[in-house]
Amino acid sequence: MLAVFAAIALLVGAAVGLVAWSGLPHYDDVAAPTLTLPNDAASLDRGRKLVGLACRRCHAAADGGPLRGRALAELPPRLGRVNAANLTRDANAGIAGWDDGALARLMRTGIDRDGRFVPPYMPRYTRMASDDLGAVLAFLRSDHPWTAPDATRVPASAPSLWVKLHALYDWHPPHLPQEQIPVPSRDDPVALGRYLVEDVLLCNDCHGSGPDAIALEHPTDDPGYLGGGMALRDRNGEALYAANITFDEQHGIGTWDFDAFRRAVVDGFGPDGALVRWPMPRLGELDDVEVAAIFAYLASAPHVARAVPESADYKVPGPRLDPGRHVFFRAGCHYCHGREPAELRSWAAVVIVRYPDDEALARFVADPSRARADAQMPGFAAVLSEADRLAVAAHVRSLAEGAARK
Ligand code: HEC
Ligand code: HEC
Ligand code: HEC
Repeated sequence: MLAVFAAIALLVGAAVGLVAWSGLPHYDDVAAPTLTLPNDAASLDRGRKLVGLACRRCHAAADGGPLRGRALAELPPRLGRVNAANLTRDANAGIAGWDDGALARLMRTGIDRDGRFVPPYMPRYTRMASDDLGAVLAFLRSDHPWTAPDATRVPASAPSLWVKLHALYDWHPPHLPQEQIPVPSRDDPVALGRYLVEDVLLCNDCHGSGPDAIALEHPTDDPGYLGGGMALRDRNGEALYAANITFDEQHGIGTWDFDAFRRAVVDGFGPDGALVRWPMPRLGELDDVEVAAIFAYLASAPHVARAVPESADYKVPGPRLDPGRHVFFRAGCHYCHGREPAELRSWAAVVIVRYPDDEALARFVADPSRARADAQMPGFAAVLSEADRLAVAAHVRSLAEGAARK
């Protein structure tokens, strides 16, 4: 009897070991599509907007800038160590060596240029409109600061055993659509909203019920669709739960009006003025028709009565000892810039150079998009008084001076 158990245990152990070692499956029978990329100004502009909204949140470095890739430490640890690739036009580190069809196949199905299955931590854009997909690829090929060749090499992802097992046994690449997929009309809010939420911005990848949900071919198959509760990690490695964004009145956003919704997704602040924390992307580039469409679609989606756990609060240092440091934590700067003094000092030393005095720095904090049109950082003009902005500016300057003294 014991011998049989031992033999079974050995076999299971060997099978698991094999999976852990062998990695991800290959699919060699899905031909890459042939496509002709547009090169008119309107398509490139559309491509820049889509890349800004959809791809930049994973593929841009933390300081904005080029699409040089980064470690996605915000993802649930169950997925393993995941690194988003360098998408710049660099010949070695970037995607200059890929042909257009291979890029399109990867985006649609998750099969890379060598036939390797990329787990769904790189999303599948299976139903992205054909013109939008062409515009995204055309933009990635174009001459723009985000795509400027950058030789930074991103280490390969190290997917967990859990991911590898699923990749081998029950996650399959979706079919490559053969038909033309149209962009929904701006006159049909619910259809446009559904397109943005399900096919382009992938809200359920974070607002769904967990890592299993990101592998579904149709996000609406998730019983907790948009009901929140998935544990992500914030910038400092603390658990942070995505909100319930269904119209459930008790647990979701059913009592919000359009202006509150617009403020949360476009400006980055909730109805009470509290920061909507990273990794929720700030979708500043959506226009009002698109935001209204997303709102209309969410209003039409099933309600999920699910309470989302509170995310841990940081201790906010008192105002009396150091008013600037107090504002830094009260306003939530540490959610994006980190909380570790040493890390903050080296960050401050790099960025402070651009601001001759505290007034200039406070102006940036008030409205970053005035200084950089593509800014991801929310503007604090409406939530911090001028005195607070000057205090936090002085704090950033003192951090930089601290770095210089080290
Ligand atoms: C949720 C995060 C996320 C988003 C959003 C995302 N990607 Fe990725 N992408 C990844 C990860 C992670 C990888 C690396 C996969 C791996 O390790 O095999 C990747 C890999 C790629 C690659 C392969 C490059 C290479 O050299 O292997 C391309 C091309 C790509 N992404 C394009 C895009 C485009 C275009 C968009 C926007 C439409 C986008 N991605 C949005 C996470 C993301
Ligand atoms: C990368 C993960 C991620 C993606 C993608 C994402 N969100 Fe979020 N979202 C979050 C997290 C995390 C929070 C909670 C932030 C907090 O607690 O401060 C949040 C909060 C929100 C809130 C505020 C809700 C509240 O009760 O305060 C709204 C509204 C929202 N998201 C809408 C959306 C929409 C619409 C999309 C798709 C267009 C989307 N999110 C995509 C992670 C994400
Ligand atoms: C939601 C994330 C987020 C929050 C919160 C945030 N920042 Fe930022 N910050 C960024 C990003 C991203 C950048 C890089 C530029 C960009 O894309 O906006 C940045 C850049 C900066 C810079 C450098 C400006 C430059 O020219 O490079 C300073 C200084 C700064 N932030 C200060 C602050 C202060 C002070 C607070 C709190 C009041 C704060 N940030 C809150 C995301 C954030």
